[in-house]
Amino acid sequence: MSAKKRIRVAFGLAAVGALTIGLAACSTGDSGGGDGGGSEEITTVGFVAVGPEGAWREANEQNIQDTFTEEAGYDLKYAPATNLDQKSQIDAFTSFVDEGVDVILLSATEASGWEDSLKRAQEAEIPVILLDRGIEPDDDSLYVTRIAPDNVEVAKEVGTWAAATFPDGGNYVVLEGPAGVGVVNERNTGFDEGLGDSSLTKLDAQTANWSAEEGKSVFETMLKSSGNDIQLVFAQNDEMGLGAAQAAEEAGLVVGEDVKIATIDGTKNAMQALADGQLSYVHEYNPLFGETALEVVEKALAGEDVDSYIVVPSEAFDSAEAAQAVLADRKY
Ligand code: AHR
Repeated sequence: MSAKKRIRVAFGLAAVGALTIGLAACSTGDSGGGDGGGSEEITTVGFVAVGPEGAWREANEQNIQDTFTEEAGYDLKYAPATNLDQKSQIDAFTSFVDEGVDVILLSATEASGWEDSLKRAQEAEIPVILLDRGIEPDDDSLYVTRIAPDNVEVAKEVGTWAAATFPDGGNYVVLEGPAGVGVVNERNTGFDEGLGDSSLTKLDAQTANWSAEEGKSVFETMLKSSGNDIQLVFAQNDEMGLGAAQAAEEAGLVVGEDVKIATIDGTKNAMQALADGQLSYVHEYNPLFGETALEVVEKALAGEDVDSYIVVPSEAFDSAEAAQAVLADRKY
């Protein structure tokens, strides 16, 4: 990923203050954006979404829909992909450009293949904001900003935890998201950086397509082919890690003793599994950035500068106690 100017949207006053100052400047102008009341103008937002994919995606896309409401001055047109198919996303994107929406939000099912669509939006002077997923090649002249937790940093923290947890090494495997999805490469890069010169040995890496069922079946095969000699699983999302935990249990292994399982997302089920000892480490990949997206839309429509990458902060949880402490108030 190119070195990007990025700001960390700490949910403290400082950063929100900075964004709010920007909004104050634009909300007195004819921003064209929803200003939360008092403005008759409705801003139309085309949301080219992923659709059903798991608990993280459901939380993220619901949060966007709960934020860009009619009461807030928006007409959000939700367009989930058909069976995660990129062509259906490109078709929806094209329709939004032809319709002349005010702004497009894009969560890409595939990282590549977006240049033509983004150039069409640019020619139509429709700002595009990437949510979660990046594009490859990454040309930030084609979009306003990408809003997401930093996959490389999140995965680096997982790798750092793994290296510290296994000072004498061991065998590990990676359960990846689908090939072609940008966050998969970013998470592999970060995890490897975090491992540093660890003596952990990578036995295998395979996609389990973000799914618990595939995570279970893929890890079952990995266990069989290694004679159960795997001490660590890095699952790139919660569902695949939960599937691996089932496979470990059915192979007679104890998670936390015979094998440790680290995941990314921080959804309720994973946090409960961490609290119950069925997972060993969960790094949040905070999906609840609808308010940030709305602030960015208003700045973009007001012609304000926006940094090309807005990082959503996310926490790490490395024990049952840490998970227990947050479970009651978990929002996703
Ligand atoms: O792009 C984010 C990833 O997509 C999440 O980690 C995963 O759960 C989702 O399907």
